[in-house]
Amino acid sequence: MTFLFNSDARRGAVFADAFAKELPDLPFEMDGATVDPDTVRYLITWTVPDNLARYRNLEILFSIGAGVDQFRFDAVPATVKIVRMVEEGIVRMMQEYVTLAVLALHRNLPGYLAQQRAGQWRDIPQPQAGSRRTGVLGLGQLGQAVLDRLKPFGFPLAGWSRSPRQIESVSCHHGKAGLEKMLAASDILVCLLPLTEETRGFLNADLFAKLPEGAALVHTGRGPQLDHQALVAALDSSHLSAAMIDVTDPEPLPAGHTFWSHPKIVMTPHVASVTQPATAAQAVIDNIKRHRAGLDPIGLVDRSRGY
Ligand code: NDP
Ligand code: OXD
Repeated sequence: MTFLFNSDARRGAVFADAFAKELPDLPFEMDGATVDPDTVRYLITWTVPDNLARYRNLEILFSIGAGVDQFRFDAVPATVKIVRMVEEGIVRMMQEYVTLAVLALHRNLPGYLAQQRAGQWRDIPQPQAGSRRTGVLGLGQLGQAVLDRLKPFGFPLAGWSRSPRQIESVSCHHGKAGLEKMLAASDILVCLLPLTEETRGFLNADLFAKLPEGAALVHTGRGPQLDHQALVAALDSSHLSAAMIDVTDPEPLPAGHTFWSHPKIVMTPHVASVTQPATAAQAVIDNIKRHRAGLDPIGLVDRSRGY
């Protein structure tokens, strides 16, 4: 029985140390070329390797990240469990990023940056937090954590998911009717949805039209969820006031793409949150222990839902 680590060596070294301490009976390998494929029971990777079929005894395929949209599910035998990364480092970084973004949009930072570049010194009308309604698309580990971190600022908070949820001090919505209701009352909209066939192209002209005049967008889900042209049109018409974008399609965007220089867009290179090796190793170790005890791993993907 072997655990195969297929990612960067720096993170691998941290994983190797943690595995040696906590699962000394489980050989840890980082080289797919030299490992005996029949011994591999667990594989952690970002993308599914082309030669996955050689690991005939694979039991769990772990994603090194929170998303699993980069996996082609049909390339993974049905007997293999697919597990996304649920670890406190990713959660903490996403809380930081979305808090930064919501506060930046709330306090008109894109507008002040544009004024600074134009040599203008003047104030922009500033609503108080209590009247800046903030809605989060996706109430999973990240959406919920982000809402929790935003609570002390006093924004009226809402969230949307596929299934009904109850979260203290958050108006929770679900389904199509719930979406419309939340959009109409979101001055700042945060996207933390996984990429699935249902969420591809989700942030489009239709959706933007349902947001209040002057609303702003934080996009930290996945690039293909956003219609770039629709966003630019909504910003240029001033229906939307600003956007903070961490994910695009493609990544990186080609030189000359409108987003690079748009005065109402702040863009970061898919860095909102990054898997932290020490906490991620612990999460994977705990999951292997659960699996060995006959329990489902935390973060088990439902292939039919796509996340
Ligand atoms: P989870 O699987 O824990 O949560 C997903 C949430 O989205 C759930 O609340 C789910 O609803 C909801 N959802 C999914 N599909 C739909 C739908 N069609 N309609 C309504 N709600 C839907 O995911 P995480 O919170 O861990 O991560 C979310 C995403 O964040 C990742 O998939 C990834 O794309 C992105 N991410 C981005 C990073 C970055 O650096 N930019 C870093 C890490 C993640 P329900 O609760 O009903 O199941
Ligand atoms: C992830 C990411 O899915 O970094 O973890 O986007």
